[in-house]
Amino acid sequence: MIRVREMNIEFYRHYADNLEAARRPAWLYNEMKPCGVNYNNTILARLYDTYHRLFRDYRQEAEDIVTRLGLDDSATVMDMGCGTGAFALHAAERYRTVHAVDVSAAMLRRTRRKARRMGLKNIEFHRGGFLTYDHRAEPVDAISTVAALHHLPDFWKLVGLQRLASMLKPGGRLFLFDVVFSFDVAEYERSIKRFVRKTTAQMGPSGQSESEIHVRDEYSTCGWIMEGLLEKAGFRVQTADYPDEFLAAYLCTRKNAMSRPGQISRDSAGVLGRNDRQTMDGTRADRK
Ligand SMILES: C[S@@+](CC[C@H](N)C(=O)[O-])C[C@H]1O[C@@H](n2cnc3c(N)ncnc32)[C@H](O)[C@@H]1O
Repeated sequence: MIRVREMNIEFYRHYADNLEAARRPAWLYNEMKPCGVNYNNTILARLYDTYHRLFRDYRQEAEDIVTRLGLDDSATVMDMGCGTGAFALHAAERYRTVHAVDVSAAMLRRTRRKARRMGLKNIEFHRGGFLTYDHRAEPVDAISTVAALHHLPDFWKLVGLQRLASMLKPGGRLFLFDVVFSFDVAEYERSIKRFVRKTTAQMGPSGQSESEIHVRDEYSTCGWIMEGLLEKAGFRVQTADYPDEFLAAYLCTRKNAMSRPGQISRDSAGVLGRNDRQTMDGTRADRK
């Protein structure tokens, strides 16, 4: 049962969100408004771990990320789209400081509660997302983002990734894991049915509806597009793993030359040919 106090919090949060949104440019993608699965929902946030623990081992996943990042315990890391803390909580046991960021107040609340229970005091919680989180602290050594970026359409993924790059120290690491498609598009119907079958086997009927909503209403993209976005946003993709035709894991390093938000740097123009560099508004640059 949702408690009256939580309903009041939701009401005032909604009011505060609208005030906050009114301050932003009207053209900015509204990442606070859920697309697809509604992670702002208190009940869903409460059930999240129950369903995800059916097929995930949070500790094992987090250890895998820690190994890939290769940082010592003096590091400061960020978990963007932290959800209920699958990575952030374990990271807090390994690193000096963790910034846990999420657009969903309900999910952040779960993480905060779990952190309190675990006695963790080195997590800073921030309500915000790829497009709106304003990182005022020192740049971090690494950022991990798991199953969150697909909530943005591709152009806004690029903007979000470029913003992440600006929050990292030069040479800092980004670990990105998400639902990314690498199947042959000629076979898309068969592949998507396989995806729905797989998540149904993992989570039952709720897995079926989640995967159907995912494909229909969220913004998973193709592997080759994701690699291009990462490069253009200012990262060097060091490893790109596609464990199956729906998932991808990328380990990236921030390039030293950073472009200003909204600009594509010369350094990151690798995806287009040398004579085909584009500025963000689509005009050609450097054509000789
Ligand atoms: C599938 S959950 C993944 C949570 C967690 N990373 C995990 O591994 O379990 C997706 C999370 O992304 C968050 N999210 C959605 N859009 C976002 C955005 N634009 N910026 C940051 N987080 C976002 C949701 O609120 C939700 O907590």
